[in-house]
Amino acid sequence: MIKLSAALGKELSSLPERPRIMVIGETDTGKSTLVGLMARWFRSAPAKVVVVDSDIGQSDVGPPGFVSYGTVEQGITSLQSVTRNGSYMVGNTSPYNRELSVAAGTQACVREAQRQGADVILVDTCGLVKGVPGVQLKCAKAEAVRPDLIITLSTPGLELLTGCLKLLGFRVCSFLPLRGARTKSVDERRDNRVSCWNTYLGSRPRLLSVDLSRVKVRRWWGESRYVDVNQVPHGTVAAVRDPRHPDFQAACIFMVSKESEGWDGGEAAEGADRAEGCPSILVPLPQDYEPDVVWVCSYKLGLDGTRVISA
Ligand SMILES: Nc1ncnc2c1ncn2[C@@H]1O[C@H](COP(=O)(O)OP(=O)(O)OP(=O)(O)O)[C@@H](O)[C@H]1O
Ligand SMILES: [Mg+2]
Repeated sequence: MIKLSAALGKELSSLPERPRIMVIGETDTGKSTLVGLMARWFRSAPAKVVVVDSDIGQSDVGPPGFVSYGTVEQGITSLQSVTRNGSYMVGNTSPYNRELSVAAGTQACVREAQRQGADVILVDTCGLVKGVPGVQLKCAKAEAVRPDLIITLSTPGLELLTGCLKLLGFRVCSFLPLRGARTKSVDERRDNRVSCWNTYLGSRPRLLSVDLSRVKVRRWWGESRYVDVNQVPHGTVAAVRDPRHPDFQAACIFMVSKESEGWDGGEAAEGADRAEGCPSILVPLPQDYEPDVVWVCSYKLGLDGTRVISA
């Protein structure tokens, strides 16, 4: 098990009460691993530690395409074992042109974590740090979170952003990328997303019919691409209001019955009572849940029955 460096431990010990900490760095520099290590470090005292996972492309806490937050249990080994509490839709795995909804979702998660009395809030971020999009995304996130400490895993590509954050008055502490951090291949990244979706859906996701005479199908506000809400393709990522947290969304998958014929036996989702021609959503929510709106976006998954096979 990797340990936190003494220098970082000293920084963390000198923070004010109920600190918010954000980690930034280029892709594959060890951000998520470091957030996991800090979660473990803070959790070794009886503290309520919350992780906000604002990396919508390589998510750990919730499904890709969503900003999620969750509570850290004792003995955590990685961010994948954080217990998800809520998710906010962004609608794609790339933050380009979706900076506003990523920042809004991150802020919603931090606000909710504070409301729930978190002692420590750790914000993981994506690797988009360069150029105008990187600077805008990370500065907007920092303004939304107002972290007490920003930890940078420093590489030459991070200098412009680091300078901007310091000028804005944030306390920025730079460390080297984690020794041992390795580059994830495109296939590995795709497999991570698939596995994240299947973990989120669980072994028995429910299939709820969408009665279009009562349920509105709407394009998500943060979506920057065209979406035809009258012709939503099978496998489209969607969301409904989270019944437990109305400010958040429950991620779901839009299913069109023509392509979903033939599911039976053990592979069938619970409550497969859909009417012919009527779309459904695949979602880990109670069977009696009736959404008033289904938000859709341009992010599409590949499915084999109710299993996600590409994401
Ligand atoms: N000290 C280490 N020893 C061994 N492997 C490590 C170490 N630190 C990180 N890794 C591995 O290196 C890879 C990259 O690390 P990680 O996912 O934490 O980086 P990241 O900056 O969060 O990447 P991304 O930009 O995709 O979010 C992961 O597979 C992780 O398990
Ligand atoms: Mg990461």
